[in-house]
Parts: sequence; structure tokens; C-alpha cells
Amino acid sequence: MTDSLTVRDNRTGQEYEVPITDGTIKAADLGQIKGTGEDEPGLAVYDPGFVNTASCRSAVTYIDGDKGILEYRGYPIEQLAEHSNFMEVAYLLIHGSLPSKAEYDAWVHEITFHTFVHENVKSFMEGFRYDAHPMGMLMASVGALSTFYPDARNISDAENRHMQIVRMIAKMPTLGAWSFRHAQGKPFIYPDNDLSYTANFLSMLFKMSEKNFEADERLVRALDVLFILHADHEQNCSTNAVRSVGSSQVDPYSAVSAGVGALFGPLHGGANEAVLRMLRRIGGKENIPAFIEGVKNGNERLMGFGHRVYKNYDPRAKIIKKSAEDVFEVTGTNPLLDIALELEKIALEDEYFVKRKLYPNVDFYSGLIYEAFQFPPEMFTVLFAIGRTPGWLAQWLELVQDKEQKIARPKQIYTGDRTLDFVPASERWA
Ligand code: CMC
Repeated sequence: MTDSLTVRDNRTGQEYEVPITDGTIKAADLGQIKGTGEDEPGLAVYDPGFVNTASCRSAVTYIDGDKGILEYRGYPIEQLAEHSNFMEVAYLLIHGSLPSKAEYDAWVHEITFHTFVHENVKSFMEGFRYDAHPMGMLMASVGALSTFYPDARNISDAENRHMQIVRMIAKMPTLGAWSFRHAQGKPFIYPDNDLSYTANFLSMLFKMSEKNFEADERLVRALDVLFILHADHEQNCSTNAVRSVGSSQVDPYSAVSAGVGALFGPLHGGANEAVLRMLRRIGGKENIPAFIEGVKNGNERLMGFGHRVYKNYDPRAKIIKKSAEDVFEVTGTNPLLDIALELEKIALEDEYFVKRKLYPNVDFYSGLIYEAFQFPPEMFTVLFAIGRTPGWLAQWLELVQDKEQKIARPKQIYTGDRTLDFVPASERWA
């Protein structure tokens, strides 16, 4: 048996042999298959949403959606969530292996000492409207960092790339926290470099007049675990945006800002915000059957359910469910949790969801935890973005070093008019 595909074009009767490598064929190899028409372009693949198209080779994250497996650089997410911390996971994603003690200390030191942003970033952020959505502010301010670090355009220099990666991971919580404070009309809090990454973020979010802000350690840990769970997820929509924009060889701030934009959408990172709105609208367990009927009739989607890749329980959702219990121990329970648990139970037994393999995804329970932290729903996706930053950057780093990569430029099937004669407005409107 040879690793190839024999394709017979029934239009011409001709046969072609296309090599199979790593379970894929090269779409470009299909270009040799041409119909009878002169000048006819070669065969292309039509794949809106890239449902069956690999866009890169990657050694960052492995997912087996049918079995519900997620691994970063080969390490199962369950073990990382239990035994590691977000800084170590960020190191792992960026560098490809776990750090020695000295490497870890140097990494944490670097990140910690780049948490401050230029004062002009502060005035830039103060310029937003009082009710600006924090994701819009985050997207704009990450993009704006490219103007503060013009050297970031030198993406072929490894040291330079490292510098920008450190800056971005370090400054993301500062930008995220300030987006939050702005909407609340509260003063921006500068980073406290005596605190851990996640504890410092909570301080920048919630500190008022106290000298030092000390968050409950259990909450710090829960948020750190949430960051770990969101740190990467291979070629999802926002990562694809980062890679696609990055493929033009733009600086990483511009590429990551595109990722933040993609994450903002309700079908991606915005889903946890949508879950909370949905639970609130359902209002009580007694209204669940009617709601489920509406979903089955196609009136709306059960937000926080379903996934392009997972056709099994999202392993992150399991960990988050457990984290929710830890958080509620500190904050008291969220009444919406009961609705969520019941909704999950009913949906998992319902034929509509079973048949389509729709299970809870990472967003189903995360919103409930975020709400317990007293974050408004608009902030949920900002938290996702902070967690996802090392993943975006690990993927960007892989992209810029991958010799097989080219500028992203899909084909289209043109469906419009051709060769019309333009009639000037003066004649058309006469
Ligand atoms: N509720 C009800 N029906 C659904 C849902 C849902 N949440 N998700 C998928 N379906 C149905 C869909 O109607 C379709 O049914 P049919 O075959 O009868 O037309 C079938 O399941 C397949 O759906 P699809 O839209 O082709 O699947 P997709 O892979 O394109 O979409 C998804 C994946 C995540 C966008 C989708 O499941 C969805 O909209 N879920 C709700 C939003 C959500 O929770 N998003 C968070 C995703 S995880 C975090 C992240 O990536 O950011």
C-alpha cells in the first residue's frame, strides 16, 4: 500500500496520484487536476470555516476531540491545572519544555519587571468613552503597543521576539485591569511587583485605598487555573487570526490585537458572557424545558454547549466545574449555578444534544466563576484574552520560524458579475 490518493476526474477520465503525508494531502497538489475548458483553473478545495483544512504544522497543543483530550506540549491539561501555575505553563508554551528552577526564576523576573506600561498608554486608555467595552479597549491598547515598541517589527531577530513576548504577557493584565477600572470610573492602579502574576492582576482590578491589596489565596489559585485552561487551544478562531495577520510579517502586537478582536465574538470567547445572559433569562429551573424546546426548534443556541473539535465533554469544563466549587466556598454560591447544573443534566439526556454530540464547553461554567469574582460580563472575555496570550505568542513564534508558511491568502469561488460596462452616474441618474 502506498501513501497516496488516486483521483479519477470523471470530466476527463484522467487519473492523478496525490501523495498523502501525515494524513493530509496538499491542496496545491489538486491544482494539477484540470477540466476540459481552456484556461480553466486547477481544482481547489472549498472549505468555509476551515472545517477540514490543516493550515500549519504545530507542536504546541494536541487535542483529541472525540476522546476529550487536551495537552500542551504533550502534558495533559488535568496535570498542568493541578500541579503547575500559569507562569510555568506560559514558559512551557513559549519555550516548548518545562523550565529548570533557574529558568523559571529568570522568566518570572522578566515578566514581573515588564508589567508597567508607558504613561502615554494610560492617557490613551483614559480617552475612551466612559462606557467603552473593555475588550474594545484591550484590542486597541494591545495594538497601540506596536507604536511604543517600533523595534517589534524586527521579527527575524530571536532576541527581539523574546523581548516582545515578555512585554506582552507582562502588560496584558495591566491593560485588562485598566479597561475594567475605566468603565467603573476608578483610578488606574499600577502593578505591584511584589505580587505574583495573578495576585497582581487582582490588585490592579480591585485595590482602592488600602496600602496593599491581598486577595484570598484560593481565589488567586482559581483564577490562575482558569488562565492555564485558556492558555492555548491549537488552531481556534483567534489563534488563526493571529497567525493569519502575523503571516504578513507584521509586529506581534498588531497580530495579537487581531486575536483579541476574534476572541471578542459571541461564538468564540464571548460565549461565557452569552451563557450568563442566557441563564439569567431562563430565570428558574421550571423554565428550562421551554427553553430547551426553543433551542431544538432552532430559535437559538444553548450557549456554552458544542464545540468544533470536542465531540465529548470538554476536559476544561470538568476542571472548571471543580474550580467553581472552590470559588463558591469563598464567595458563597451563585444562584445561576443551580440552573446551569439542571440545564446540563437535561441537555445531556436529550436526544437532540446526544445525537449532535453537544457537550458543555469551557465557557459553560467559567462565567459563573467570573461573576463570583464580581466581574461584570463584559470582563469575561478580557480574562480569556489574558490567559490565551502565551498561546497566541507560542503559535506566532512557531509561524514566523516555519519555512513552509506563506502569507495567508485563501482562494474564493467568484459568484459575481463579469465584464459589465460602466455607465457614469450622470447617465444612470438622468
Ligand atoms: N445549541 C444548539 N444546537 C447546536 C449548538 C448549540 N450550542 N451547537 C451546535 N448545534 C447544532 C447545530 O444547530 C447543528 O445542527 P444541525 O446539524 O441540525 O444543523 C449541529 O449542532 C452542528 O453545529 P455547527 O454549527 O455546524 O457546529 P460548529 O462546529 O460550526 O460550531 C460552535 C461550533 C462552538 C460555534 C457551536 O457549537 C456553537 O455555536 N456553540 C454555542 C457557542 C459557544 O458555546 N461557543 C464557545 C465555544 S468554546 C470556546 C471558544 O472556542 O471560544
